Amino acid sequence: MQLYRRPDEYDLEHTGDDADLKFYVGLATRLKPKSVLELACGTGRITLPMAEEGARSGFSVVGLDSEATMLKLARDKARSLSTAARKRIRLVQGDMRKWHGREPFELIIVPCSSITHLLEMRDQLEVWRRAFQNLAPGGRFVVEAPMPNFSAYADSFTNPPRILVEIDRDVTDPKRNVRLVRRRTVTYLPDEQRAQIRFLYEKYRRKSLVESYIDDFESHVYFPRELRLLFLHTGFEIEDVFGDYNRKPLSAKSEQMIMVGRKPISGGKIQEP
Ligand SMILES: C[S@@+](CC[C@H](N)C(=O)[O-])C[C@H]1O[C@@H](n2cnc3c(N)ncnc32)[C@H](O)[C@@H]1O
Repeated sequence: MQLYRRPDEYDLEHTGDDADLKFYVGLATRLKPKSVLELACGTGRITLPMAEEGARSGFSVVGLDSEATMLKLARDKARSLSTAARKRIRLVQGDMRKWHGREPFELIIVPCSSITHLLEMRDQLEVWRRAFQNLAPGGRFVVEAPMPNFSAYADSFTNPPRILVEIDRDVTDPKRNVRLVRRRTVTYLPDEQRAQIRFLYEKYRRKSLVESYIDDFESHVYFPRELRLLFLHTGFEIEDVFGDYNRKPLSAKSEQMIMVGRKPISGGKIQEP
């Protein structure tokens, strides 16, 4: 995807995003899996600290992503991990709808709303089914997606649709002396449950614009019961549902939906189409 052809800027955009990192590393520390798979691991923002935790707690980590440019940066950064963590991590190129691990995992995570990139129901079902197959009995599959913005959704029904422009990122990299400002517009296609997202980037050095670029992409809008259904339909039990990274219960005011599905220890059977 065009969106992921600038991995350095991706990391810059995510400067200071550590609430999700703490959530996932904390989850692994509590669940004590032997092996963790991160689907759509990107530049390793979560995978790499997870591998350091793996070295301390005794689990291994596989990061899977379809985008070579993102994985290359993840691999470059992995060289700075401790020797113990380097022995625990594997970064693999592949599609989360199809990839099959050699050994079953005990924890599979899809952080950072990566699951919204799959627009078709058959692709979503393939990911849930594949995760079920890649898990050991009793293993967990954790998926997160943003809670739909109901007021913006309602605005999409006006004619012409009202479109909000917001600055949703404004970050500075002191080492490169670069400030990156991102403006975002979202147009909902309510009947398709799809968001058309436009990111307008501006890069400044000493207050002067040095580069601007644009990314357009589409994203699936999940609703809470739909997420539940994807787990239940593919054979999972739902163990936990959170509304944020502090593990607050899901409510209408939540910004996130984080669902933890568990593959039954016995008797779980995957639903075929
Ligand atoms: C929002 S980034 C998340 C990266 C990382 N998990 C993080 O938390 O920073 C989404 C990632 O999903 C990857 N991706 C999109 N579709 C994919 C697919 N079908 N299989 C594997 N990776 C995919 C993209 O290449 C991108 O790196």
